[in-house]
Amino acid sequence: MAAFGSIFMPRMALATFDNNQWGESKIVPSDSIPMHPGAHVLHYSSTCFEGLKAFRHADGSVHVFRMDQNIKRFSQSSRLLALPDVNEEQVAQMIKDIVAEFASDVPAPPGSMYIRPTHIGTEAIIGKAAAPSLTSMMYVLLSPVGDYFSGGAHALRILLDENGQRCAPHMGMIKSGGNYASALGPIMKAKEDVQADQILFCPNGDVQETGAANFLLIDGDEIITKALDSSFLHGVTRSSILTIAKDLGMTVSERDLTVSELLERAAKPGVEAVLSGTAAVLTSVGTFIHNDKEFKVGSGEPGPIAEKLRKTLNDIQWGNAQDTHNWLTKI
Ligand code: COI
Repeated sequence: MAAFGSIFMPRMALATFDNNQWGESKIVPSDSIPMHPGAHVLHYSSTCFEGLKAFRHADGSVHVFRMDQNIKRFSQSSRLLALPDVNEEQVAQMIKDIVAEFASDVPAPPGSMYIRPTHIGTEAIIGKAAAPSLTSMMYVLLSPVGDYFSGGAHALRILLDENGQRCAPHMGMIKSGGNYASALGPIMKAKEDVQADQILFCPNGDVQETGAANFLLIDGDEIITKALDSSFLHGVTRSSILTIAKDLGMTVSERDLTVSELLERAAKPGVEAVLSGTAAVLTSVGTFIHNDKEFKVGSGEPGPIAEKLRKTLNDIQWGNAQDTHNWLTKI
């Protein structure tokens, strides 16, 4: 099976910002973009992106999940990186237009169409190391996808890293390529050294997030995850799962969690740990690796509460349950 995100629909929606304004968006081939080698993004990483999905329902209709929240975050990331402000209505229209164009290619469950809005600084000027790009480009790519973590229901091995951090602490809430690049070195080393699937970054013992997904601990009817601050990504799937957990009568504790509390709780039977994200959906953690020792989480296998939360989320996304929170936009 093709790697997640390696297949693209042949066209994308694209708009450019020039002379202080956004031009009309167009549908263009998605295999290349015109770009000067001195473009701001290539030197000073003026780039942010989003990840959201469109789902096919049994009646054939196509629905985008929580488009408004992803656009809000895209807008915020652009602002925090001093990229031109995006026009949120225009972004919404670009997403709708390109998904409509490829509606018949949206995979049926368990697949989906991954939507990747991207915003880059295009001004050709290498002298602007400390000034923003005056021109930019935004485009929306589509990629039909299945599982992000290959191996289906297998529970992940996660290295707890108390020394490194995913990215600069004031940048974590920005969905920017640089944050992912800065985590790659430690992640590759963890894969090689201890065959970890991912790192859970816990600087000074503060449990934050992994390289590409948020972290949640499930202990009985309580779900514990870090409260929102600037140090980690404010996941839309995280917030959806917390809402679903409340709907199901669980207690949601958004608060600090230390590595020692995590390991103490994880040792109890029935405790579960999960990663959440658009790509990861809700993937169970089976083992933590910490200071060269391995710790099983509960039974070490994917647990029933994560399964129930994921199924409740999928049922809404796939149209098998009522969309009581109005999370879907019909295309
Ligand atoms: C997502 O979950 O959408 C992400 O952005 C993770 C990604 C690096 C595949």
